[in-house]
Amino acid sequence: MEKEIDGEVLNVPRHIAVILDGNGRWAKKRMMPRNFGHKAGATAVENACEDVYNLGVEYLTVYAFSTENWKRSVEEVTGIMNLLRDYLVNSIERSNKNNMRVRIIGDRTALAPDIVEAIGKLENATAGNTGLKFTIALNYGGRDEIRRAVKEIASEAVSGKISPEDITEEMISSHLDTRELPDPDLLIRTSGEERISNFLPWQIAYSEFYFTDTLWPDFKRDDFVKAIRYYSGRDRRFGGVSNK
Ligand code: FPP
Repeated sequence: MEKEIDGEVLNVPRHIAVILDGNGRWAKKRMMPRNFGHKAGATAVENACEDVYNLGVEYLTVYAFSTENWKRSVEEVTGIMNLLRDYLVNSIERSNKNNMRVRIIGDRTALAPDIVEAIGKLENATAGNTGLKFTIALNYGGRDEIRRAVKEIASEAVSGKISPEDITEEMISSHLDTRELPDPDLLIRTSGEERISNFLPWQIAYSEFYFTDTLWPDFKRDDFVKAIRYYSGRDRRFGGVSNK
């Protein structure tokens, strides 16, 4: 979508996905514990939802906790889970006020029962909202998501509901956690790392990537504008030839 932002007409991505990185380093720079950085990171996520929506973005998806993040110290994992718990419980009112729909993707089977319950409540309470579609990846791993989808499809084949010829790319997409979301147009990773880290590997096949040294808690509206400006200047060909 073309939109005038700060006096400049930009092509705004419909869906932005963000790998939130650098919370630990942000805290370290301040000689504070890592969980202090995660708290600042969670506040930055809340601000990002409002900022990107005002910039014309329809979908925002963030990587909050990966299937690999359980390897961190018990203290850190507990801290992140408590932050997410607070977020899930406290954001119903705020999301409804902002007309924001919240979804959670990832494997829920390893999450604490009260978190699973809070996810259900938040998703249901915001299901009718038509503003920003905000998705949190929680206990998410892209390969794990594909494995779960393949398992479902295999069961359908074994039971005779489908035959192998019915398996199309669309059908695979429709078994992923992201089945209700368009693929991301732009993927942002903060804090200087240039890796995908198992985030939406199927869905980012044609996404543009934007990497920045800025640490996630410092990533503000103007940084989103910079990323959108970068995206706006790209020529997305999806394997075809240039339209420019
Ligand atoms: C990456 O920084 C951050 C995480 C693994 C956790 C991110 C979680 C949150 C910001 C909380 C999510 C909150 C909401 C509301 C969705 P890092 O710890 O890897 O930083 P480092 O690379 O500097 O150590």
